[in-house]
Amino acid sequence: MLAWNRTHYCGELNRADAGKTVCLSGWVNRYRNLGGVLFVDLRDRKGIVQVVFNPEHDHALFQQAETLRNEFVIMVKGRVELRPEEMVNPEMGTGEVEVYAEELLILNPAKTPPIYVDERGSEVDETLRLRYRCLDLRRPEMQRNIALRHRITKLIRDFLDEKGFWEIETPMLTRSTPEGARDFLVPSRVNPGKFYALPQSPQLFKQLLMAAGMEKYFQIARCFRDEDLRADRQPEFTQLDLEMSFTGREAVLDLIEELMVFIFKEIKGIELSRPFPRLDYQEAMNRYGSDKPDTRFGLELVDISALVAGSEFAVFQNVLAAGGKIVALTAPGCGGYSRRELDELPKLAAKYGAKGVSYLALTEGRIKSTLTKFFTPEQLDRIIYRMEAKDGDLVVIIADQDPKVALTALGALRLEFGQRLKLIPKDQFNLLWVINFPLFEFSEEEQRLVAVHHPFTSPLPEDSVLLDSAPLSVRANAYDLILNGTELGGGSIRIHRRDLQEKVFKVLGLAPELVQEKFGFLLEAFEYGTPPHGGIALGLDRFVMLLTGANSLREVIAFPKTTSGTCLLTMAPSEVEEEQLEELQIALTKKRQEEA
Ligand code: AMO
Repeated sequence: MLAWNRTHYCGELNRADAGKTVCLSGWVNRYRNLGGVLFVDLRDRKGIVQVVFNPEHDHALFQQAETLRNEFVIMVKGRVELRPEEMVNPEMGTGEVEVYAEELLILNPAKTPPIYVDERGSEVDETLRLRYRCLDLRRPEMQRNIALRHRITKLIRDFLDEKGFWEIETPMLTRSTPEGARDFLVPSRVNPGKFYALPQSPQLFKQLLMAAGMEKYFQIARCFRDEDLRADRQPEFTQLDLEMSFTGREAVLDLIEELMVFIFKEIKGIELSRPFPRLDYQEAMNRYGSDKPDTRFGLELVDISALVAGSEFAVFQNVLAAGGKIVALTAPGCGGYSRRELDELPKLAAKYGAKGVSYLALTEGRIKSTLTKFFTPEQLDRIIYRMEAKDGDLVVIIADQDPKVALTALGALRLEFGQRLKLIPKDQFNLLWVINFPLFEFSEEEQRLVAVHHPFTSPLPEDSVLLDSAPLSVRANAYDLILNGTELGGGSIRIHRRDLQEKVFKVLGLAPELVQEKFGFLLEAFEYGTPPHGGIALGLDRFVMLLTGANSLREVIAFPKTTSGTCLLTMAPSEVEEEQLEELQIALTKKRQEEA
């Protein structure tokens, strides 16, 4: 007689187990009473197996089994039998066998689950899925995602350990780091009126670890950013963060390429070819209208400024006179678009600041456009020729005084057409580097220069001389890793000398006292022999999302937040007791609703 100890996982039973007596545990996935025989699909982490309760063998056991409902937690002892030929279920991993129950132990009954705990669960309203996350996470699809996340993290750890990296934890309660988002603040009870910030990334600490002679550091690091959330952004997320000393750009890119090749091979069985393509930031913008181009399809942008310079269209003339750009793309087969189909395009482009979209529609050998009257037939022919447009195609044009606006708006339309025309292959993985970003950009909001990556990024050595005279022309020694149009990671070679770091802070318009207060500890470390160093951080959640093919980070994070930053399971954030606030010496400026 077997004790109630599990001997096998449900999902691992196969024909080689036939004849064995086994003890299984798991959840009732489904039950069917067919002509007096009860079939229970028993599910555990590894899969599902069919268990048979036959009243003719044991009536009392059958009656006990009749009380089973979905999601009851049970243990079953029984004999594995081969299914008759005609009953084999090729859909099931364990479809060649079934278990004839001999004993049943109900460990915990379950109320009727409010959501499906099988493949139908993905169609359930996401609010319910997040509210009943424990049930949702039981679904095989979610179990696969979480298991994959574990495996990827484990592979990263093995790989970096092999390369001599040390995993080092850095503080969660810290000072604010300038990664560009708002901080989550944590009040200090012991130091009333003072706040910690949760780290937006371990950036400053990893640089300090290099100053501390750790040489090669990595961390699977939790990061916190209070920013507008989207499908690929969570307020708390995880990075693979790493940093190395005595290094340059090539060594970092080389290491990450090797890591990617390793993971794709292990996880997907795909051999990535190296080196990964590299695009200059400006080239990426010009060709794809994005600094994270999806290169799985064409539809590249074309600068037609020179071709339209001779036209009489005032909008184009004004844009060119103001130093702007006129860019176009050809959408194959879209020449017959209806007004409604066209109307959506300027709405999308407007989100990126574009003031309008023009078209040349090629239908039945003619050009249909509001622009034709401003162009000579030769001018139009030259544009059509340059755009490689054929009859039936649509040439989409955006002009803007700010070249970046024209490019990014058309880049967004390029992605829209890629999707509409189903040009994006789902099972392809295009990895590439975007390099040589500008070091600074002008922030309209703050009316000053801000760092494109962060202020610790070093300029390309040959551009340093321009820091004073032409800061917007200085390129950064920075690199982003792009996977299928998503920014997977970003990093740079850092500044490691006080004089250069102070100069960059000055260009950013930060007063010396502020710099001293916020970053004095880093500048001081630079004065005591900090080696040259550089590194990168990859978004782990994004990486797992792309590898699973999921379309939201919430599919690969066990307990994610909604787009409004709440956890529907615990209902965080929540109000706190008045005493807690008093202890922290915090008074709320807006009265609580019930008091109002
Ligand atoms: P960066 O800010 O580019 O760089 O972040 C690195 C990567 O982290 C991921 N990421 C996010 N993932 C989910 N939700 C978010 N809100 C979110 N924000 C960022 C992205 C991104 O590419 N300290 C630097 C790295 C360095 O210079 O070494 C940094 O944090 O995949």
